Amino acid sequence: MYSKKVLNHFAKPRNLGEIKNPDGVGEAINPVCGDSTKISIKVKKIDGKAVVDDIKFRTLGCVAAVATSSLTTELAKGKSLAEIKKFTRDQVVWKLHGLPIKKVHCSNLALDALKKAIQDYQSKQRSKQKPKSIKKIRNKSK
Ligand code: FES
Repeated sequence: MYSKKVLNHFAKPRNLGEIKNPDGVGEAINPVCGDSTKISIKVKKIDGKAVVDDIKFRTLGCVAAVATSSLTTELAKGKSLAEIKKFTRDQVVWKLHGLPIKKVHCSNLALDALKKAIQDYQSKQRSKQKPKSIKKIRNKSK
């Protein structure tokens, strides 16, 4: 039913756990079965690009949910946030050598949680930026 790769990621999940003081956290819940995945990330700037330096996950869910979470974190480590935003569910399923058709929906959890972690990081970055003074804004508009 499951590929060897799926079973391997389920038996030996990569990047399991939670990062202390993460730069971003995202959580996704499957409303149908109630399974959930939480992903935390550390981000580093390399050559001006924001890159995932470390990533951890916790999944309460089925074999497919754990395996896709493990593989997704493996794929994301060392990648830029822009590259990760282009990840698709099909890519993850393909890298796992397929999933039973009834389990394909389980692969949404990890990607949704990861993309929320990136959004969380980016919104924290925006709130750190100093607001421009009203005087500067007025001078620019003249
Ligand atoms: Fe719930 Fe797989 S059955 S995520």
